[in-house]
Amino acid sequence: MKFETWVGRLLAGGALLAVASTAPAQNVVKLGMVGEFSGPFAQYGQQILGGMKAYMKLNGDTVAGKKIEIVQKDTTGPSPDVAKRLAQELVTRDNVDILVGFGLTPNALAVAPIATEGKKAMVIMNAATSIITTRSPYIVRVSMTLPQITQPMAIWAAKNGVKKVYSVVADYGPGLDAEKAFTEAFKKAGGEMVGSIHTPLQNPDFGPFIQRVKDAKPEAVFLFLPAGEQGIAFMKGYAERGLAQAGIKLIATGDITDDGVLEAMGEPTLGLITSFHYSAAHDSPENTAFKKAYAEVNGDKLRPNFMAAAGYDGAAMKGMKLVSPRGPIMIDPETRDVVQTVYIRKVEKTGGGLYNVEFDRFPDQKDPGKP
Ligand code: PHB
Repeated sequence: MKFETWVGRLLAGGALLAVASTAPAQNVVKLGMVGEFSGPFAQYGQQILGGMKAYMKLNGDTVAGKKIEIVQKDTTGPSPDVAKRLAQELVTRDNVDILVGFGLTPNALAVAPIATEGKKAMVIMNAATSIITTRSPYIVRVSMTLPQITQPMAIWAAKNGVKKVYSVVADYGPGLDAEKAFTEAFKKAGGEMVGSIHTPLQNPDFGPFIQRVKDAKPEAVFLFLPAGEQGIAFMKGYAERGLAQAGIKLIATGDITDDGVLEAMGEPTLGLITSFHYSAAHDSPENTAFKKAYAEVNGDKLRPNFMAAAGYDGAAMKGMKLVSPRGPIMIDPETRDVVQTVYIRKVEKTGGGLYNVEFDRFPDQKDPGKP
């Protein structure tokens, strides 16, 4: 089948509906989930699965009369070889109809050829390096891309008087995408980059990097780190080494103020400005319903974050357009990547705790990383 036909059907008919109607005469639609369920990135799998369960709680667990069944596999972290083997098992042994999940870029990239060979739709629910969707015609991404969420931050910072920036990013696909997108947009808006550091993806020790930034005396640091524990460690070092007191602002993509860990990062985050596509504080009926369903199926210990919203949307995607818990989204039929509003937000203390409060927006953002 030509990929335009396949993707057209996938999108127009809805991922789940399309598969339900073509799957052999069985009474189930099987989703094979490749996710991170243990190790330092364990919250990725938990959030994405939690979001899909929230969708089923609100909309039921059948589609076209067939029951949705999720088969879960744990990559244990950024492990391309493991991810590839698990995806192969899901396709050949478990006979899944769709591959879903994918928190980390290296895992998504490793599985792309399996989707192509097995002719299985592959729904990316987080992994955000721009090129991922170009690696298989069977891939659709419902999450974000780093260039997409970064460019608005650069434009906003330049407009708001920041002129000299030091960039700190994780040393792999999304970090390199973020650095490139920020640098290009910031320079174009009249800003100057005064330094750049790439931090390791595994077990980073941020202390020495933060000191190097402090010594360079930039006006601000632009930061991308993968959501979760790394953000907690970075904010601790930033506070301990007194960068805020030295007048060095922090601007970042919203991965750093991940709703799932924001409370644990605490007061040092107050006033932090980030750009992102989802906030638990987003004020809409869709988000209220999503958060309620999420808490009902997953308990209220973990606040749903952007990965949970993408899990929800990946299960919900019944057409090209959708009002998501994050706001309006659509899939670009050319690139199979998501088009959405990117918000500028500030961490504030509201009645219920620390939240990313949206105060400015860049609507209809495509991935600027694509030609
Ligand atoms: C990725 O590996 O693509 C990734 C992981 C965590 C993020 C963003 C991107 O917060």
